Order: sequence, then C-alpha cells, then structure tokens
Amino acid sequence: MLFPLYSVLLFCLLNLASASPVKDSNAYRLARGLPPLPPRDFGRNKPGQQPTPVLRARANPSPSPSGVAQYSGRLQVRLENGSTVGYVQDKLGLPVSHGSDLQISVFASLTRKEDLNIIAAAPTAFPSRSHLGASSENSKDTTISADTSSSLLFTIVPKTPAMSRPIVLPTGNASVESAIWAINSTTKELTAQYVNPDGSLPKTFIMFNYTDDKLFFVGNTTSQSSSSAPVKLFIVT
Ligand SMILES: *[C@@H]1O[C@H](CO)[C@@H](O)[C@H](O)[C@H]1NC(C)=O
Ligand SMILES: *[C@@H]1O[C@H](CO)[C@@H](O)[C@H](O)[C@H]1NC(C)=O
Ligand SMILES: *[C@@H]1O[C@H](CO)[C@@H](O)[C@H](O)[C@H]1NC(C)=O
Ligand SMILES: *[C@@H]1O[C@H](CO)[C@@H](O)[C@H](O)[C@H]1NC(C)=O
Ligand SMILES: *[C@@H]1O[C@H](CO)[C@@H](O)[C@H](O)[C@H]1NC(C)=O
Repeated sequence: MLFPLYSVLLFCLLNLASASPVKDSNAYRLARGLPPLPPRDFGRNKPGQQPTPVLRARANPSPSPSGVAQYSGRLQVRLENGSTVGYVQDKLGLPVSHGSDLQISVFASLTRKEDLNIIAAAPTAFPSRSHLGASSENSKDTTISADTSSSLLFTIVPKTPAMSRPIVLPTGNASVESAIWAINSTTKELTAQYVNPDGSLPKTFIMFNYTDDKLFFVGNTTSQSSSSAPVKLFIVT
C-alpha cells in the first residue's frame, strides 16, 4: 500500500535533480514578507504515533528539493487576440522565426512563482545555462515607464539576483536583468516585471517588432510604432 503513494511522490519530484540552483531560502522569503520555512523535520512522525503513509514518505531521506517545479519547452509568442506569431529561436538576437525553436526551462516552486529565470537549455547557439532577460544594450535607456516610449531588448543576459536593479556589464555599455519572470502555473504564461534603476516597478509589457522579428520590453504600448504589437509569452512543449 505504501508503494503507490511513494511512486506518486517520486513522480512529482522526478524533474528535480537539476533544480538545485533554485531553492526557497528563508532570506528570500523574509525579503518578500513571507513566513520562514518550516523546520527541516516538519512532517516526521511524532514519538508514539504510527506514521501515516504520507508522513513516512516525507520522512524519506532522499534529497529534499522543497517542491521545485520545472517547466520546460519552447517560448510561444502570441498576439493579444490569441494568434501565434512564432517561437523564440535558438539564434543570436532571439528572433521569433527563421531558425530552430529554442528549448528553455523555468524553475518555480509552490511559494515562488515570480522573480524567476528563463534558462536556455543546452545545446544551444548560446553558452550553456544562458538566461533570457532585459538589456539596455544599443540604447541609453535603462528606465521604462508608462510615460516614456523607451524600450529594452529581450536578449541573452548574465544571471542577476531576484529583485535586482539593472546590473552594468563589465563592458559598461549595457545594463541587464534576468530574474524578471513570473509564471502562471495554469496557463504557462510568462510575464515580466522589470526593476528600474530607482527601484520602481514599471508595468512591463512585451512587444513584437514586425520589422526585425524580435521582442522588446516597454512601459507604454501605445507610444510604440505601428510596426510593433503587444504580445504574450507562453511555455509550450
Ligand atoms: C489577430 O490579429 C492579427 C493581426 O491584426 C490578424 O492577422 C489575425 O488574423 C488575428 N487573429 C484572430 C484570431 O482574430
Ligand atoms: C559593448 O562593448 C563591447 C566591448 O567594448 C563591444 O564589443 C560591443 O560591440 C559593445 N556593444 C554595443 C551595443 O555597443
Ligand atoms: C503612453 O504614450 C502615449 C503616446 O505617446 C501617450 O499619449 C500616453 O499619454 C502615454 N501614457 C501615459 C500613462 O503617459
Ligand atoms: C492564470 O491565468 C488564468 C487565465 O488567464 C487566470 O484566471 C488566473 O487568475 C491566473 N493565475 C494567476 C496566479 O495569475
Ligand atoms: C524595429 O526594428 C527596426 C530594425 O531593427 C528598427 O529600426 C525599429 O526601430 C524597431 N522598432 C521598434 C518599435 O523598436
């Protein structure tokens, strides 16, 4: 009778071997105003009590990855009316067509569904474990907001900490953020939340440029040219 339950748990945890970089820490939770994690022996049987199968399964000493969920697949780009524009490509500049679809992974957990990274899954045209995020490259703008038309590139960036302000690259000509993503675990939609240099959190829209086939971030969709359109990003297999 224990075996099926254990199998179910094992199945749930199956994807977790590679998930070690993303774990809920109490520091992270405190920063977000969440209560600390329960103590490590939470769920173990108490003395004198017969453990239920679930408690026994939890007490199993296998590596405890604290409920991390891995979402893997391609990044589908959809217009607001639901039409598919294309898929983010495994190609420099991350165009949405004319290449092969980039395979990505996102690690989330029960408590953490925002400030996530999108990781390019090897092998790709990019260095192993590259991250997809926002960059000010080719532009002096590092701030986006509702009352400006400034924009940021959607591109490969180095990993930056959760809730970080833009980090200036060693070359000095770009500021980047990677941990800007939130996932809706039902629809698998990825939404972005950029952090401005002053710490403000602009409503962050993703746009598609019909001319160069690429995505970019803005704070005001109506201030953009007619050769671009607001889009949504979804993880699909
Ligand atoms: C969505 O909008 C695009 C561009 O305006 C159009 O080509 C497409 O047919 C529309 N799709 C639907 C389902 O209305
Ligand atoms: C940024 O600086 C590097 C090194 O100086 C240079 O190779 C690269 O072309 C620059 N990028 C931009 C967008 O100016
Ligand atoms: C967004 O941009 C449009 C066009 O430039 C402008 O009319 C509008 O006022 C802007 N929105 C805000 C909230 O400033
Ligand atoms: C996920 O998306 C669905 C459909 O748009 C929405 O009803 C739901 O509230 C979203 N969940 C979260 C946590 O945003
Ligand atoms: C779209 O891409 C073209 C070609 O790179 C560029 O000239 C134009 O400014 C872009 N448009 C927007 C709204 O970013």
